[in-house]
Amino acid sequence: MEVVLNSKFYVTTPIYYVNDKPHIGHAYTTIISDTLARYHSLCGDEVFFLTGTDEHGQKIEQSAKKNNENPSEYVDKVASKFKDMWDSFNISYDKFIRTSEVEHKNSVKNAFIKMFNKGDIYKGEYEGNYCISCESFVMNAILCPDCGKELVKLKEESYFFKLSAYEDRLLKFYDENPNFILPTYRKKEVINFIKNGLEDLSITRTSFKWGVEIPNEVAQMSDKEHVVYVWLDALMNYLSALGYENNLESKMEFFPPDIQLVGKDILKFHAIYWPAFLMSLDLPLPKHIAAHGWWTKDGAKMSKSIGNVVNPSEVVSEFGLDVFRYFLLREVPFGQDGDFSQRAIVERSNADLSNVLGNLLNRLLGMGEKYFDNNLDSLSFASAYEVELKEVEDSINIAREYIFKVELHNYLESIWRIFDLANLTITKKEPWKLIKENKYNEVAELLVFISNTLIKGAYMLYPCMPASAKKILSVFSLGDDGFGRFVVNKEILTSVKLNHIPPLFPRLEVKEEIKQEIKSEAKLEPLSIENVIDRDYFMNIDIKVGTIIEVEVLPKSEKLLKLRVDLGETRPRQIIAGIKLYYEPQELIGMQVCVLANLKPAKLMGEISEGMILAVKDDSGLSVITPHKVAQNGSKIS
Ligand code: MSP
Repeated sequence: MEVVLNSKFYVTTPIYYVNDKPHIGHAYTTIISDTLARYHSLCGDEVFFLTGTDEHGQKIEQSAKKNNENPSEYVDKVASKFKDMWDSFNISYDKFIRTSEVEHKNSVKNAFIKMFNKGDIYKGEYEGNYCISCESFVMNAILCPDCGKELVKLKEESYFFKLSAYEDRLLKFYDENPNFILPTYRKKEVINFIKNGLEDLSITRTSFKWGVEIPNEVAQMSDKEHVVYVWLDALMNYLSALGYENNLESKMEFFPPDIQLVGKDILKFHAIYWPAFLMSLDLPLPKHIAAHGWWTKDGAKMSKSIGNVVNPSEVVSEFGLDVFRYFLLREVPFGQDGDFSQRAIVERSNADLSNVLGNLLNRLLGMGEKYFDNNLDSLSFASAYEVELKEVEDSINIAREYIFKVELHNYLESIWRIFDLANLTITKKEPWKLIKENKYNEVAELLVFISNTLIKGAYMLYPCMPASAKKILSVFSLGDDGFGRFVVNKEILTSVKLNHIPPLFPRLEVKEEIKQEIKSEAKLEPLSIENVIDRDYFMNIDIKVGTIIEVEVLPKSEKLLKLRVDLGETRPRQIIAGIKLYYEPQELIGMQVCVLANLKPAKLMGEISEGMILAVKDDSGLSVITPHKVAQNGSKIS
């Protein structure tokens, strides 16, 4: 992917519903955004980091009622819980927006008028179902396809946005901007949603009151009181926060957003509705929408009724903010689901933070004090460690590429390569033996090298774990302003004075009740599963059953056969398969096979291949995978 450093960087979190207090899912999005904001600040970009609360809609109105409060008092109370939490977590946001602010409401109204004047809004009636929990209109279903909750029936006057008119422009945009949706494998579900037919979107509601009233200019002819649909209202926050069409000081030079973090459940709203609204307003589209996966707790979905909702403040008070941040960013590949448990956080912290990073720092401080009274000097270290220093720079470069894809797990893993290399180098050099042989110069070289790995590593770590990185840098009397020197300009130090700090990441103990859990699980031998993927990822892999209807021998190839496979589509697929050594063409005709159907077509021996036949190969040869019973051509394997 192209690595572009902007001079301006605009990053957003979703704005959180104030129907309940913040939980780990909210903390996750916010911490990822904070990491990106901090990284870009270090790079010298001018950053605008936006977060806030989504305070209108039927769900909030109902929650207020349940709490016997009026909506406005209720939202004030809950919004402050979010703001207080982010403040106590030192989140570096530039603005905390609340959709109940008058400036935001003005932006929404003015945008509504613009869309209306453009001819993109018309009056009609919505008749269908609605999910109050997701605040989303759902046709033809009894339960919400996203959250599984029961739907309510709606029949009400409504203004509609001509979403269907934007179908082609949206598809063209995704095509021309293949990295718009991150991870890119999520693009397919968005495209499928559109290809199934985009209906016009109901954008006002009349059966409750708690929302932005539609402007008089538009509502003149209406006999009902309309409030703006909460998703149109909410999405506009990314504009209103910058002073779009309101009285705030304009910061529209930050628009469009560089990256917008969302959970996978709200990708549709951000990758379809939001770009269509922006097209209607003649505004540029965001550069990336990055969708993360969902957290479960001890393997179960979090829910208030089960009482297993993880409170981020409790985790932070037990393990510390940076351990929590590290866990969230490192534990799951960006985009995939993750499971939170006390045990997972303890294991992750002990394995990476205590055993690798903490241990490295302790080794340096221990040897530095013992052998050199904390004063390390070596002019020759850079030539002695030329290869290792190159490895460090390589890891840094690799890590920096990952940040642009929001692959923060890989970013951290690349930084850990630096710390692993440093630990390994100490083990290999055996400085305790060198000292006995009076080879002080060699040990000084080693320790200056280690110091430089820690300095560079700490600057890279700073966006993810700011407080810990600062502590590491304080060992070398450095502040948090050296990213340019040590990372961008690749500076190294040849002389270091070590300051001692208390051990950074003491090993954590697994609590008694967790030990019990481990015991009860002990019967199942743990398996090490490589390259784990989640369900959603697998759902994007399209394997279908098909029947081979024609086989052609390619005379120039020893291994390849040209097949025509009926997958129940408008025409059979042409598939070039490397099975010639194992099958006679005749025995293949009529055979049902499993085909990887959404593999990018490629040319093999000059022939286009539109899929891959699945087969297994062992010592006895190759065997094509075939369903146990005959299946309809085109049936999906899941
Ligand atoms: N208000 C809307 C967003 C409007 S943005 C214009 C909303 N709010 S929310 O509070 O319900 O969710 C906010 C974010 O939290 C979403 O990105 C959602 O994916 C995320 N999470 C909620 N529960 C989660 C987990 N269990 N795990 C990870 N993130 C999840 O949607």
